[in-house]
Amino acid sequence: MQGCNLLVKGGRVIDPLNGRDGVFDILIADGDIKQIAPRIDNPASGTDVIDAAGLVVTPGLCDMHVHLREPGREDEETVESGSRAAAAGGFTAVACMPNTQPVCDNQGIVRLVKSRQTGRCAVHPVGAVTKNLGDEELAEMGDMRLSGAVAFSNDGRPVASANLMRRALDYLRMFDVPVISHCEDLALSADGLMNEGPLATRLGLRGIPNAAEAVMAYRDVQLAALTGGRVHIAHVSCAETVEVVRQAKQRGTRVTAETCPHYCVLTEDAVIGYKEMARVNPPLRSEADRRAVVEGLADGTIDCIASDHAPHSSEEKEVEFDQAPCGMVGLETSLALCWTHLVLAKVLTPSQLVEKMAVNPRAILKIGNGTMEIGQPADLTVFDPAASWTVDPAAFQSKSRNTPFAGMTLSGRAVLTVVGGRVVRPGGRE
Ligand code: DOR
Repeated sequence: MQGCNLLVKGGRVIDPLNGRDGVFDILIADGDIKQIAPRIDNPASGTDVIDAAGLVVTPGLCDMHVHLREPGREDEETVESGSRAAAAGGFTAVACMPNTQPVCDNQGIVRLVKSRQTGRCAVHPVGAVTKNLGDEELAEMGDMRLSGAVAFSNDGRPVASANLMRRALDYLRMFDVPVISHCEDLALSADGLMNEGPLATRLGLRGIPNAAEAVMAYRDVQLAALTGGRVHIAHVSCAETVEVVRQAKQRGTRVTAETCPHYCVLTEDAVIGYKEMARVNPPLRSEADRRAVVEGLADGTIDCIASDHAPHSSEEKEVEFDQAPCGMVGLETSLALCWTHLVLAKVLTPSQLVEKMAVNPRAILKIGNGTMEIGQPADLTVFDPAASWTVDPAAFQSKSRNTPFAGMTLSGRAVLTVVGGRVVRPGGRE
């Protein structure tokens, strides 16, 4: 496929790995980055010129935790619709979780997911740790790795057996890929519906304590230390887990972690009124937890921000709170939520945000280099930090509309992405 010829002029280029944050022109020839300089004039004929004054240009954003529901729930999302949502949100790569129907626990499904890619966004499957996400037997992770799985996880459920988790971490050392741990002690979360605390009592809903997450995170960093394997803690929601990761990093354990925009922006108060859109697993927590998570991002304890994009059909989601499935879509709101509530709120610098949303997820999954190298295929995101817009789920590219952010006004919107040397415009025009 022919790569693009493009001159991106006068954008604020933020490329943390190259220590670059300033106004530059970027010349792309036949899909490869040819030159980055303060000023590039007179490009070859046939080169499209984009005036990027006032826009931000970064290495392609990567969302390392999404659910694309294919195979099995193509009514909620497909690799194709999820890729459109990703492009609209400014992402050039995603890693998709294996809790599909059937579960992505073998080479065939890994290959199927990869074969559905459209070129709008690179889609990297995560394979299951255990067969059918069960508690009995490890899945054929080696085969899946060789077919393109970038990590392994039972996300949506924990790996309940500590021994299976130990064996998975041990085995995956051979490939140097992480287990992405959905930390949840099922005996503690039981049939909980929201964060445990006074609000849950007031609403008459059974709570899930922070310890349900933190004890499992502690188990898994211990098992990473025991085996020398790599563990990545998914969707950190509470102060105790931040502390578990912080201390494990200090001890030199091979642990990384992510949180999601909703744990940085919302608290359990979003549930008031039995708002089913705010039901998510792990649950939205207290204000003290929200602050601890944000602090963990700022001090480097939490490496990445991932959306945990979890599409659900309106028939299933828009029901009584206790009946609604957990999760919210996030690909199309993630960048704007983070720009507005983390960068404009002065919690993270723009460069730190690029580390959390592009550089670190790629390093953890070893997908692309998260930088702009001369001679390499262009993979970048261009967004308008000043674009103010109001979240309207009806306008999503995703097939699903389940978001608690409807009606919220945010700053920051993707203008275009370049994926593997090809221009992708949000909305599908290529
Ligand atoms: O809220 C969630 N939804 N949390 C998960 O871990 C899984 C996800 C889903 O698959 O819907």
